[in-house]
Amino acid sequence: MSTPVMHETGSKPRDLAPLAITWVREQFPSLRTEVGGKPAAFLDGPAGTQVPQQVTDAIHQYLLQDNANTYGAFLTSRRTNEMILGVRSAMADFFNCSPEEVVFGQNMTTITLGLARAIGRELKPGDEIVVTTLDHDANVGPWRALEERGIVIRQVDIRESDCTLDLDDLRNKITGKTKLVAVGYASNMVGTINPVAQITKMAHDAGALMFIDAVHYAPHGLIDVKALDCDFLVCSPYKFFGPHMGTLYGKKEHLERFRPYKVRPATNISPECWETGTQVHELIAGIGAAVDYIAGLGKRCDPTAKTRREALAAAYRTTVPYERTLLTRLLEGLESLPGVTIYGIIDRARFGERCATVSFRIGDHNPTRIAEFLGDRGIFTWDGNFYALNLSERLGVEQKGGVLRVGIVHYNTANEIDRLLDALRAF
Ligand SMILES: Cc1ncc(COP(=O)(O)O)c(C=O)c1O
Repeated sequence: MSTPVMHETGSKPRDLAPLAITWVREQFPSLRTEVGGKPAAFLDGPAGTQVPQQVTDAIHQYLLQDNANTYGAFLTSRRTNEMILGVRSAMADFFNCSPEEVVFGQNMTTITLGLARAIGRELKPGDEIVVTTLDHDANVGPWRALEERGIVIRQVDIRESDCTLDLDDLRNKITGKTKLVAVGYASNMVGTINPVAQITKMAHDAGALMFIDAVHYAPHGLIDVKALDCDFLVCSPYKFFGPHMGTLYGKKEHLERFRPYKVRPATNISPECWETGTQVHELIAGIGAAVDYIAGLGKRCDPTAKTRREALAAAYRTTVPYERTLLTRLLEGLESLPGVTIYGIIDRARFGERCATVSFRIGDHNPTRIAEFLGDRGIFTWDGNFYALNLSERLGVEQKGGVLRVGIVHYNTANEIDRLLDALRAF
């Protein structure tokens, strides 16, 4: 299995300073939240991360100084246009594409529903789309909705032993009729990182488009759409320290060729024709600040980083190994607890194929009860299926309340993992 793209092609990884965790945590005011006199441990990142001060500052500042609709003949409207252009550039650095290949939207689900409809209007009955059992339903349902137009959906299975995609099954399901392959970059339930560059090649060899759901991957690794050569990739800034919105990368030729559903007076020019109605401008301002936060962290780790893209790469080169040390600590603790079943890759030598999101069950205990017990002690985790419904059903846990999910991001600490493990021992 190929390893995920972590570094810029051609760039030399440098020795970086270790993650300055004290500085990191100072940037996130909400991390000072207390529950019953104890600090809150935010291990709920896969459902949405906390935001650094600079993100709320940018939202605040936009509303106070620049607030207007776009394309008016006056100061604040012009400022709004400039701000949006600036954030398109920031997201272009984040994706490694050009600004006109960046689309903003309400969230990943809404963007994907709109894109699937636009692509679907060009397909004919009998055309095929490949989805997977590992994915969040937002990368399944929008494609399945095309079944009513006669499109055939083929679903790729997993290898249950380690919750990785069954690549043989994938190979068999991609046929001459396949028009699009929709695969997640990383599983929001079990953390598996899929070999998306390899799958993109498989899709392209069959003449199909490749759509990647990078929502879960985005806080855990550098995205490089050029290196991946995918046609579309979506992610949601609220999962990588920004506000509640979604963003889409689309190859320019596709954004210009496909026709989004839109109202008549709205522009036909891409990428704005894909942005239905008035956008939440203040949150777009916040997205720019989130990208700049990650780049700022990277610059602290590698002061020689010259561009924002290089700084983003440096940030992930620091946070990924840090998250892995916490992941190791968590798995060691969980493995020593009686009755625990962990889903997904646990082999330390294969950590390149997973991120630090861990789902497990403890005997027959209902995960909601465990989450409540932890929540009362200031430890925030999630229980259920997290909309990865096919996976929850496939693992046979759907009827039992799903799993308990612990999500580690770079602002978490070893102390938080130890508190979690102590609480689980006491459960
Ligand atoms: C992997 C994955 N894909 C898609 C989504 C849906 O994203 P959004 O909430 O932006 O619609 C989520 C949300 O949890 C997710 O984790």
